Amino acid sequence: MYMEHIGKKVLVVGSGGREHALVWALCNSPQVGQVLCAPGNAGIAELAECVPLAVNDYEGIAKYAAEQAIDLVVIGPDDPLAGGIVDVLKAHGLRVFGPDRKAAEIEGSKVFMKHLLCKYGIPTAAYAAFDDFNEALAYIEKHTLPVVIKADGLAAGKGVVIAQTHEEAAHVLQEVMVDSKFGASGSKVVIEEFMQGEEMSILAFVDGETVRLCEPAQDHKPIFDGDCGPNTGGMGTYSPLPQFSSSVIEKVRRTIIEPTAKAMVSEGRSFHGLLFAGLMITPEGEPKVIEFNARFGDPETQSVLPRMKTDLFEVLWAVSEGKLHDIELEWHDHAAVCVIVAAAGYPGEVSKGDVITGLDAASVNVLLFHAGTSRDEDGTWRTAGGRVLGVVGIGDHVAAAKAKAYEAVRLIQFNGMQYRNDISAKSERLVEHSK
Ligand code: AMP
Ligand code: GLY
Repeated sequence: MYMEHIGKKVLVVGSGGREHALVWALCNSPQVGQVLCAPGNAGIAELAECVPLAVNDYEGIAKYAAEQAIDLVVIGPDDPLAGGIVDVLKAHGLRVFGPDRKAAEIEGSKVFMKHLLCKYGIPTAAYAAFDDFNEALAYIEKHTLPVVIKADGLAAGKGVVIAQTHEEAAHVLQEVMVDSKFGASGSKVVIEEFMQGEEMSILAFVDGETVRLCEPAQDHKPIFDGDCGPNTGGMGTYSPLPQFSSSVIEKVRRTIIEPTAKAMVSEGRSFHGLLFAGLMITPEGEPKVIEFNARFGDPETQSVLPRMKTDLFEVLWAVSEGKLHDIELEWHDHAAVCVIVAAAGYPGEVSKGDVITGLDAASVNVLLFHAGTSRDEDGTWRTAGGRVLGVVGIGDHVAAAKAKAYEAVRLIQFNGMQYRNDISAKSERLVEHSK
């Protein structure tokens, strides 16, 4: 089937662990002849031709893709999606996987997202939105605690604060709205109720009203074990989540993903790409939306794609043609656990250029997705970013996958290396409780 796609040229835009996982999955497709990546990283360069074009150079990427007769461009990160890279590429006649600027606003503006969910009755935390500091201050003074404060725009995963006291909430509002800690992203804020429960990430392919859900994953956002310390971009993920029944996933599809896809069509913002729902599953088993992203999750992608049996290229191509309805996703039974290895100082100022050893030995039994590495001419690997590597163990069940991932992590060394020891531990604890 789809014989006409054999030898397709695919360009992935981005440079992190998510893009390495996308490149890896596309390289495994019998229908793909060549994978390129702009700008990529040193690990991605082992699989794909890396092109030195910045993700915000939309015209440069468009010209390059047209010159190279790229068959499909796949966008990784949020910033270019929110900035309209898809609109620019399409105007050049290119085929793209990713939502246009209007649809990407579901991630780019939390105020837009909350209004949409409220209008269409999609479950999420109760909220109010403000662009006036004094009104916001008066509102939080009466709000129950804890209270959640979110900058409207993109803030590299750092625009959310859960305030435990009214003083802290007032201080955060001052920083975000008056002192412009997140620049223009904080000129509007969303203030919402704190939801109890356990988090789940659902990546869903969306093509207008047609949706196909991936197997669920769970991220670990705080830097230290036991969910302590400041939030990061994500310190590890695993999939599947044995503590949740399939009826919860079915509820996510029925009450959240399908209605959201329909709502976007009704609003004239038809979404075509990957819709990523960050969910809270309440103690009663009811899913509620924490946030939507208009792209693959990082590091969710690193543990979800290795479990996907269906050819990723076939799915991306179908979405780009408006034919997702022809595809059913199939999954391997095995589990995947991704442990992120981060640089000294992360999530603050990080040290770069530290020599990394042990990668060859580590890679024997795991998938290694590079997020921030560079390579000297003599082959020496060095750190080049906050999140450095995603180490993915695959096993018959979560515990086996976890053991494999940590065995490999322990072979890797560099100065100040940080990682969490408890990635996927939540599943074990909850499974025991439910017995
Ligand atoms: P976000 O960037 O919106 O995903 O938020 C970052 C993290 O803050 C989430 O992963 C949750 O752990 C937490 N969070 C955000 N909103 C809420 C909420 N309304 N209730 C409880 N936790 C939340
Ligand atoms: N893992 C969370 C994110 O990609 O935003």
